[in-house]
Order: sequence, then structure tokens, then C-alpha cells
Amino acid sequence: MTNTIEITKAQTSKIHDVDFENLSFGKVFTDHMFVCDFKNGEWQQPEITPYAPITLDPSARVFHYGQAVFEGMKAFKDDENKVWLFRPEDNLLRINKSAERLAIPAFPQDVFMEGLKALVQLDEAWVKQGLGNSLYIRPFVIATEPAIAASPAVEYKFLIICSPAQSYYSGDVRVLIAEEFSRSANGGVGYAKAAGNYAAQFYPTNLANKEGFQQIIWTDADTHQYLEEAGTMNVFFRINDTLITAPTSERILDGITRKSILKIAEDSGISVEVRPVKVSELIEASKDGSLKEIFGSGTAAIVSPISAFSYKGEVFEIPHQEERFSAIFKEKLLNIQYNKSEDPYGWRV
Ligand code: COI
Repeated sequence: MTNTIEITKAQTSKIHDVDFENLSFGKVFTDHMFVCDFKNGEWQQPEITPYAPITLDPSARVFHYGQAVFEGMKAFKDDENKVWLFRPEDNLLRINKSAERLAIPAFPQDVFMEGLKALVQLDEAWVKQGLGNSLYIRPFVIATEPAIAASPAVEYKFLIICSPAQSYYSGDVRVLIAEEFSRSANGGVGYAKAAGNYAAQFYPTNLANKEGFQQIIWTDADTHQYLEEAGTMNVFFRINDTLITAPTSERILDGITRKSILKIAEDSGISVEVRPVKVSELIEASKDGSLKEIFGSGTAAIVSPISAFSYKGEVFEIPHQEERFSAIFKEKLLNIQYNKSEDPYGWRV
């Protein structure tokens, strides 16, 4: 494989057709995409091409067995028009960890970083200034080999597409705590960003939506007594002034925003506990008034306050706090991401 990326520029830009004030998440895509094929046992020439549909054989394994993994990351524009990525190497490490679990070959870090930077530079005009505006970047790998035996493919496509984004959730989120359905199990793929992990949540989440809840907080598959994550977000609980979140495991995604918040919290002198959290503890804390906040964290969701949870038909409202931890973390994260403050951690690239 040669590392020099072949670039074919789009003849015209679609940018003038886009209403950047009214974006729905993930519906509009920039002018270019990064593509690299895997065949004959190696990754081939990486390319940046005009954004366009791709053609796959109907027998491509991804359609039959869901052999696909993805990532979510963002670029931000500062007041001087410089564009920044947030911890991009962590996304590459994680997509390769996910890929390993799905028997997909790892993608080389240098090509990823070079491709990503070249792509974002080319579509730089799509990254708008202003807090809340970002470019959502979606790297993903799919099994393209035309073959329907249930075994790993020998051909893949690695792509990166980009979509200008504002907020993922508008306003506070209400959640349902899972009592019956499960997202992941020990020994499974819960920690990976496997495409199928998300599809499997759609049906239970639809049922939750019908009851007025936007998301499900998943519980452990064995007992449904421990709170794990919320599918598109990791979850944090604030009981009195202690911040609590479940440890990552083979069932829970190792969220980059999650670990950034933990670091910021520790460095801000907030007491942090990374330990299993029981549903019963949350209910007791809600009843005795010590539950101050619940919020989710994720690349798309950033930091999203949760205003109520439902469990076994009972709804628990979380009273609004004047001084929300979630607001503090969001501000500190955004300041680093938009180059409005020092970045003591070296997260900004
Ligand atoms: C992200 O936060 O980037 C995610 O992967 C969530 C996505 C399913 C919207």
C-alpha cells in the first residue's frame, strides 16, 4: 500500500444548498469522502473522492451478517478559523479494537490520520464557527466481499464521511430503564462499535419512544439490576456531590467523552466513583432527594442532561439543579474542543 492519498476533487460544491441553521443530525454530507479497499490480504491505495453512492454486490457479506464497525468523532472551528479534531487517535484505536472483535483487519494509524486530516481540510468550509456547530465525522468499515458463507470476508471498504452537525438531542432527555431487553452480554460485542449493536436497540427504543422516552438505559443482561449505558451515550449519576458511572467492560463502550469527563472531574476536585450502580440505589437516591443529576455523554450527544427516568411503570423526575455538573463538564469540554481554553491534556489536534 502506498500512503499517499489520491485526491479527486468534486467539480462543484453542494454547500450553497445547505441550511446550516436548521440541520437534522446526520442527513447532509460534505463534498468528499475517504475510501480505501482491502483485498489480496492488504489495504489498497487510499483515495479521497467526491461524495457519492457506492455500488456493492447484493451478496456482500455486510448485508447478510452485519460485518461492520464504525466510529463517531467531530471537528470544530475556532474563532480564527482553525479546525480542530478531538482525540482522533483514540477513535482509530477503538475502531481497530471493534474490528478485531468482528474479524475485520486493522486499519493503519498513519493512513487514517493522513486521510482524516486531508478530508477535513478539503471540506473545511463545512465546519461552521460557533459553539454547537461541528462537523460530525463517521469512519466505518464494511465487508464487501461478494459471498454468503457465514465466515469473515476477505474484502472490505474503509470509508470516512462527514456531516455538518448541531445538537443530537434538543432539550433534556427522558429515559426508560431496561427491565426485559438487553443490549449486550458477557463475552459479546457490547464494547465494540459494531453496527448491529445499534440496530438491535431500535425495536426496544421504538417502544420506549411510544411511551415518551427518547432513550433506554440498559441494565446488565443477567439480573437487570445494574445500570450500564444508554446506547448512544455513556451515563453518569450525581448522588449528592459524587459523580458515579459504571466501569467499562466487555459490555460497555469505552466512550472517549466519558473518559474525558472523568479526567476533567478528577482534576476539578469532584469526587468520582467508577463502580457498578444498582437500579435500586438510583431509586432510593431519587426518593430521598440525594439524586441530583443524570446525564449522558457521547461524541454526538456531547453532554446531555436526563430529566426523568422510568422504571417498572413509575416515573422519577429529577429536579433541576442550579449548578449542574453536566453544565460544568460541557463547558470545559467545549472550551477545549473549540480552542477557547488551554488544553492541558493534549486532546486537541
Ligand atoms: C456517537 O456519539 O458518535 C455515536 O456513535 C452515537 C451515534 C449512534 C449517533
